[in-house]
Amino acid sequence: MKEFDFVVIGSGIAGLTFALKAAKHGSVAVITKRNGADSNTAWAQGGVACVTSEEDSFELHVRDTLDAGAGLCDEATVRTVVTEGPARIRDLTDLGLHFDDREVSGHREPDLGREGGHSKRRVLHVQDVTGREIEVTLLRELQRSSTVQLFENHMAVDLITAGKLGFATEDRCLGVYVLDEKTAAVETIRTDRLVLATGGCGKVYLYTTNPDVATGDGVAIAWRAGATIANMEFIQFHPTCLFHPNAKSFLISEAVRGEGGVLRNNRGDDFMARYHPLKSLAPRDIVARAIDAEIKRSGANCVFLDITQKSPEFLRERFPHIYETCLRFGVDMVKQPIPVVPAAHYQCGGIKTDVNGATTLPGLYAIGEVASTGLHGANRLASNSLLEGIVVSHRALSALRVQPAAHPSRSITLPEWRPGNVQDVDELVVIYHNWDEIRRLMWDYVGIVRTDKRLQRASARLRNLQREIREFYWNFKITVDLLELRNLATVAALIVDSAVSRKESRGLHYTLDHPETDDGHFKRDTLLTRM
Ligand code: SIN
Repeated sequence: MKEFDFVVIGSGIAGLTFALKAAKHGSVAVITKRNGADSNTAWAQGGVACVTSEEDSFELHVRDTLDAGAGLCDEATVRTVVTEGPARIRDLTDLGLHFDDREVSGHREPDLGREGGHSKRRVLHVQDVTGREIEVTLLRELQRSSTVQLFENHMAVDLITAGKLGFATEDRCLGVYVLDEKTAAVETIRTDRLVLATGGCGKVYLYTTNPDVATGDGVAIAWRAGATIANMEFIQFHPTCLFHPNAKSFLISEAVRGEGGVLRNNRGDDFMARYHPLKSLAPRDIVARAIDAEIKRSGANCVFLDITQKSPEFLRERFPHIYETCLRFGVDMVKQPIPVVPAAHYQCGGIKTDVNGATTLPGLYAIGEVASTGLHGANRLASNSLLEGIVVSHRALSALRVQPAAHPSRSITLPEWRPGNVQDVDELVVIYHNWDEIRRLMWDYVGIVRTDKRLQRASARLRNLQREIREFYWNFKITVDLLELRNLATVAALIVDSAVSRKESRGLHYTLDHPETDDGHFKRDTLLTRM
């Protein structure tokens, strides 16, 4: 059995930031399913929303975040994240990260991007590869640390809790079982401070901007351990992904619209003018629904994002990654509008935490996309998530340092993982079939526009699939594929259950059967806890 002062599951911006800071105070394990750099963070294009300009203010950033959140943000959390942002940005630049800047009256100023829902330019970025640069910077720093051990190709199976071991005292997290993909062995890791930073669950949908690792592991693991889960019905669909059969929903950053890109339908109309005064830069939920409506009305496969009015030099310099990728798929954004469709992008709910990342289960913290801190409410403001990752990870470490475990896990013997009498999976096709079925049914029945009937259908199908997967789990040797499938099914069911319980439309949850917002009954979080 291994033992660490801190165990972090996940290697995106939140997990790595936490690990680097925790390394100054004890031993740290970072557990990650694939390679260190395989995370949602590495795919983030837009940047980090943060008040740095004289023309901006904390008050405006707070107001924009609350407006996007449609009445469900926790205002105190919003204020904390927004006001602590600049100090945490300095932590990143101190590590050598350089955000783009430009010359203004003889001195350099940040070159701030603009995205939907922001009343000011406030997005710090590194061209259109901000996340990749952040990830590279943090991993480079991590490799220099002698107190952090990075376990790649290791996947968390389940938490070890006092409750599951049958202790009648206060339930708490004591450690985690981890599958080593190379040896297929399950290791027991003891810790009094476990931090879930596993990112989101985009892979629960057929079309997503997320990398393959985004299978909702953290939410599923926390749910099974008895932690409270909040607001899972609020899944953000990014309005603009490259429409091409082989492009795997490649993201076309909102920053393209921030620089003047206009959405057009198949007749060339600037259709967003009919939906919102901010047109193509309206909040994301409105743009995604408008595109969905245009596509359904016209029978077309996609709409188009037109930025051909900008100079080729500007586009190649500001969006090199998008430019090159589109070109590889035969689309020259300098000369032609980019065909785009919406795709699942961000999980606004997650494991319920306070502003320090503390969950309802003592000893367990959650940071980054996997957590629901109250910052995003019913709809996330673009580029607020990397900001949340750096602020809350910093706060989580401070909180864990001043609150040592009440009953250290060392007094308890942790049982080794018992594999039971299991065989190798005989028919992989069952795993892949169930995986595909979940993703398609979530896309068709629990997507941008919902109805009671579609949600009921999804719920019934998911219950059957979960039964089948449970049987599989107990009878066969666990593999990463099987664990991911189990987590995907759990998270899909949590999204559906949350959506079923919200009989109104608000933010990212829109249902034809209850199209109005009902503050009287539903201006509250959706909370689910396993009985
Ligand atoms: C984008 O670049 O459009 C994505 C930014 C975000 O989701 O915050």
